[in-house]
Amino acid sequence: MTTLSTLKQFKKDGTKFTCLTCYDAMFARMMEKAQIDTILIGDSLGMVVQGHDSTLPVTVDDMAYHTANIARSNKQALILADLPFMSYVTLPEAVTNSRKLMQAGAHVIKIEGGSELGDLVTTLAQSGTPTCVHLGLTPQSVNVFGGYKIQGRGDAAADKLLTDAKAVVAAGAALLVLECVPAELAKAITEAVAVPVIGIGAGADTDGQVLVMHDMLGMAHGRVPRFVHDFLTDERNQAHSVEGAFALYQQSVREGSFPSEQHQFS
Ligand code: KIV
Repeated sequence: MTTLSTLKQFKKDGTKFTCLTCYDAMFARMMEKAQIDTILIGDSLGMVVQGHDSTLPVTVDDMAYHTANIARSNKQALILADLPFMSYVTLPEAVTNSRKLMQAGAHVIKIEGGSELGDLVTTLAQSGTPTCVHLGLTPQSVNVFGGYKIQGRGDAAADKLLTDAKAVVAAGAALLVLECVPAELAKAITEAVAVPVIGIGAGADTDGQVLVMHDMLGMAHGRVPRFVHDFLTDERNQAHSVEGAFALYQQSVREGSFPSEQHQFS
């Protein structure tokens, strides 16, 4: 079974690892067969499962329901679950809501933000709850950003992101996710922190990669982001199956052929 210690060892050894979003039992079982290292029950479920335009309508109960589906069905992957929008504004509500997700079967709680999350990260770490801090393009702040835009471009923005990453790791974060940041900056952050860093649209030099499952199966709704590859119709997926697509993603990330330059931002 993959644990945080496994991921730390992967980082030390330079072994690239995988993460996919997942929301239901059948896909979770296929991911277990394909040996996907970690699963994220992402609040992206608001868009790909519930049909909303953003992740904002997702509730803690929604997250707990889908987390329990996965925890029952995949006993091998490390399970990360998102605390949804505005469910961790105060420490007491963050603790209550993290408990719900951990009791539903999560191993790590993912939260979006920067150094302002320090106290929360420390409180959760001291209470037995590891956190993954999501930096860069944080979809819960879409209305602050004015759209889904690349983050960390320019010296000031890059410095802030690096400072935020170091601050949350110093506070006790166990993992980081970097979304849609220039590849060079993602590499610098990955090298600057001791914890494993998972990238999405962040180039090939992060320790792990994550994709939204529907995207990597070619089911994207609307514009396909540059960092997505369709592993279902990839000719190397000779079985033309969903399980084959997961296995090809696992193999491609491990061997370093995904992501390539065409998937990254500068
Ligand atoms: O909710 C989600 O799926 C995510 C990934 C995009 C990292 O946060």
